Amino acid sequence: RRFLRTFGRVTLVVILTATGAFLYVTQQQNHPPEQLPVDRTKPTLVVLGSGWGATSFLKSLDTEEFNVVVISPRNYFLFTPLLPSVTVGTLEPRSIIQPTRYITRHKKRKVDVYEAEAQEVDPVKKTVTFQDLSDVRGSAGSVTIPYDYLVYAVGCENQTFGIKGVPEHACFLKELGDADKIRTKLMDCIETAAFRDQPQEEIDRLMHMVVVGGGPTGVEYAGELHDFLIDDLKKWYPEVADRLRITLIEALPNVLPAFSKQLIQYTESTFKENKIDVLTRTMVKDVKEQAVVVQDANKEIREIPYGLLVWATGNTSRQITRDLMNKLASVQTQRRGLVVDDYLSLLGGDGIYAIGDCTATSYAPTAQVASQQGIYLASIFQKLGQKAKLERQLNELRATSADPAEIEAVAKKLSRASKLTPFHYSHQGSLAYIGSEKAIADLPLFNGNVASGGGAAMLFWRSAYISTLYSVRNRTLVLADWLKVKIFGRDVSRE
Ligand code: FAD
Ligand code: NAI
Repeated sequence: RRFLRTFGRVTLVVILTATGAFLYVTQQQNHPPEQLPVDRTKPTLVVLGSGWGATSFLKSLDTEEFNVVVISPRNYFLFTPLLPSVTVGTLEPRSIIQPTRYITRHKKRKVDVYEAEAQEVDPVKKTVTFQDLSDVRGSAGSVTIPYDYLVYAVGCENQTFGIKGVPEHACFLKELGDADKIRTKLMDCIETAAFRDQPQEEIDRLMHMVVVGGGPTGVEYAGELHDFLIDDLKKWYPEVADRLRITLIEALPNVLPAFSKQLIQYTESTFKENKIDVLTRTMVKDVKEQAVVVQDANKEIREIPYGLLVWATGNTSRQITRDLMNKLASVQTQRRGLVVDDYLSLLGGDGIYAIGDCTATSYAPTAQVASQQGIYLASIFQKLGQKAKLERQLNELRATSADPAEIEAVAKKLSRASKLTPFHYSHQGSLAYIGSEKAIADLPLFNGNVASGGGAAMLFWRSAYISTLYSVRNRTLVLADWLKVKIFGRDVSRE
């Protein structure tokens, strides 16, 4: 006997035979199997980016009324909240990414996806210029295409405040490649420290991991590094493991300024127990190859030697965003990012919408905000599509002198489709992992804020991220990685 159960595009098949039960899973590759072709009578909608904003937009978008083109230098979505776990091998890199084509192949109308970097947006001519800047480039060179609508979701780049030596000597933690680089460099430092006849002073330097920036990125990385030391390094490198030191440097009086006071104290005391040195009111002024120069809380300048330096001091606008702001200088007056109205439409940009970290809004630059903006914007495009359909219908009815009651009914529908409600952000809470199986959670509950830290918050952190992961495939891989690390420990081989 055969039993079928379909969940979206996945079908579970159970076959019962005399000798036992067999289960297998089938997945429909395309949904619908045949996509509508590009239709030149429909407007062109160009989407820049494949991060949180662009991906949630594409997921919810109905493509029937648009020819959609996606341009991004990476052809996948990255689940950033779990990126710190990749730096020490708690998770494997491919467990937290999913190809952009995974979404676009399920759309009603064919979507073009180009792995390329947008270099210029011309808001007057309404064009985008882009180029494939990957290692294998072909002969296409730079390409310019027109758009009717542009969804601008290119995110931000790492803030360095122009401090000398940062790009050359520090590792960032924003992209998948960054996490890989940190993992490789970390293992290199440890292997070099374990090399024979290494001077004691050099071992101490190599085993000193310095994190600059006490925001959630820096804190989560320090927590993961501590777990790696306790769970794995002590077993694999007993001769040098005790020499590992973690220092977190923060310019402000405390870490995690966006979390509640109670959770800041909890994090700082957990770090103290875990022997992570937190240097607050300390500002990095200069970065040398093997040491950072800081101004400490007593305003004294001193050098701190390091083996690995992770730089996590927040975001700044990308060059392409700054160029766009300059082109619309009379209305784009915020240095933090692009200014949009309540409907996420870019001030001064006809047909341009901007979402996520590249914008300057009253919200924090988080995945939560970007993904809610993406979903909202897809609903705006749903209305634009409906409007276009109804306008066509109305023109046809008028041309054929149809029944006035029918014309009026369509006109009413059209007027409803033209009414837009402004974007409203609903904060679901803030979560961060702080190491040693503890997390912190600031949750908006019971008309107030509930702050919780510890093991229970860690279970909540894990279940919240498992449920928001992109696909069943990602969830399975992440769960398998967690289980693998519990049983076998982290892999200490260096790529
Ligand atoms: P991104 O997700 O950065 O996407 C930008 C996209 O644009 C990328 O695909 C990029 O390749 C593409 N792009 C770049 N340049 C160009 C170009 N020239 N042309 C075309 N495309 C371009 N937020 C939370 O809410 N919770 C968390 O737990 C959390 N954890 C985080 C952990 C880490 C380590 C980091 C770095 C961030 C974390 N964040 C978290 C913040 C969150 O990742 C960002 O706020 C979110 O990614 C912003 O989404 P976005 O779409 O604006 O930008
Ligand atoms: P951030 O902007 O939140 O924190 C950067 C920190 O670096 C600041 O506290 C700043 O005072 C400090 N700093 C800046 N220059 C310095 C210097 N020269 N010396 C010492 N300290 C210096 O940046 P972060 O952590 O990268 O986060 C970026 C965004 O992503 C934030 O909006 C954050 O909320 C979000 N995010 C959220 C996470 C979560 O919710 N779990 C995890 C990671 C990021």
